[in-house]
Amino acid sequence: MSSNREHFSSRLGFILAAAGSAVGIGNLVGFPVSATKNGGGAFLLVYALFVAFICLPVMIAEMAMGRKAQKDPYGAYRKLSDKDRKWSFAGLLAVITPFMIAVFYMVITVWIFGYLAQTVFGNLDKLASPSHFGEFINQYSVFWYMVGVALIVNFILVGGVKQGIEKASKILMPALFILLIGLVIYVLTLDNAWAGVRFYVVPDISKLNASVLNGALSQAFFSLSLGMGILITYASYISKKDDIVSGAKMVAVTDSMVAFIAGLMVLPAIFSFNPNTNPDELSDSSVSMIFVYLPKLLLALQADIGYVGASAVAAVFFLLVFFAAITSLVSIVEVPTATLIEEAKLSRQKALLVLAGSIGILTVMCTMSFGMVEWLTKFTSYGGADKSMFDVVYDIFYDTILPLNGLMVCLFTMYRWKKAKLSEELSQGCDSYSGSFMEKYVNFSLSTFIPVILLAILINTI
Ligand code: PHE
Repeated sequence: MSSNREHFSSRLGFILAAAGSAVGIGNLVGFPVSATKNGGGAFLLVYALFVAFICLPVMIAEMAMGRKAQKDPYGAYRKLSDKDRKWSFAGLLAVITPFMIAVFYMVITVWIFGYLAQTVFGNLDKLASPSHFGEFINQYSVFWYMVGVALIVNFILVGGVKQGIEKASKILMPALFILLIGLVIYVLTLDNAWAGVRFYVVPDISKLNASVLNGALSQAFFSLSLGMGILITYASYISKKDDIVSGAKMVAVTDSMVAFIAGLMVLPAIFSFNPNTNPDELSDSSVSMIFVYLPKLLLALQADIGYVGASAVAAVFFLLVFFAAITSLVSIVEVPTATLIEEAKLSRQKALLVLAGSIGILTVMCTMSFGMVEWLTKFTSYGGADKSMFDVVYDIFYDTILPLNGLMVCLFTMYRWKKAKLSEELSQGCDSYSGSFMEKYVNFSLSTFIPVILLAILINTI
């Protein structure tokens, strides 16, 4: 075990960093809209049950693996399996996945940064024009924003675990919370705001069907940053004295609370803009909601409260989303960084340089796949349609590989590393774990129905 491995300075630092990873673009817009469309309060309840009964055990298992091994995901699978080839492959996948997800998440974060800059320096009329988003993502100026995001992420990561990740999370997460609460309070004072709240929380059980349930579970999985090697990596930076189970609960609760509260900002804003909105017609994708729908809403606000006020609200909103995206991006780039440091014995600086180059090239290619470069827009075709490189990365790594990685975590901890070792690790820092209901539930669920459900999702997406 590398004795000089850096650690978080406190449990709070770890929880904020892990919550910073979990709270991302999906929480702030995607979650509220899909909740409203898919049964309101009924969806919220089902989502909460999925988080508690399916995602939490997986989260705990990932954290236990990381803390026990004190290694990056690849190293963790290898160490805990005594260098078994088969499991090394699972470890490799747990590093390649975040590397590729970093690419698609980077593309979106760059747009957020661009919109933030435009609300501060530009004008909302332009932002709200229907063709603006399509033009913006195909302008060469996006590359300047890309350089900006890359510098910020590198600046945080080069500081390491304590001075970089932990410090950034301790500043960005409280700031995010304050911005979010501020916006909720403001939005709730707008006309018709409460109609939106009603749509969001009143349950409609008739909307719940198999595909809604499947979508809710995938969303919860992604939202908690599971299957990306992130929690294995972050947990390798915590001390043996920390209580993993309660830490995991705090992270899950924080992430779900932020998602829920975001609904109190997004839905009232939509309904105050247009009281006759039919929620079924809202887009499921965070991207089109943020970049196409929202600017229209801001323009309506401008008619009400003037240019300066509306621009300020817009800037606060994009800053909020930007903070959420940056802490997620940092967490996902930290996984391959840790692997290069541990396995290739590079210094942190060199590892980051290698990743800035490789992630950078792929991000540039994905950014060009919306029209700048013809062949990248038709990277492959399946299902009767041409797919851009961006879509391909998204489909493969988000839709398919995430549940596969989750499945690997269940099978590995239960059938290779074994229940007793998992329990032993989780008892460290929590004397009451052994023999508790939680222990029985974690072991039972991870060895039986959770892998079956993840397998079903996997088969379904393939
Ligand atoms: N939980 C993040 C989100 O909701 C998912 C994520 C984490 C994505 C880390 C990328 C990196 O956006």
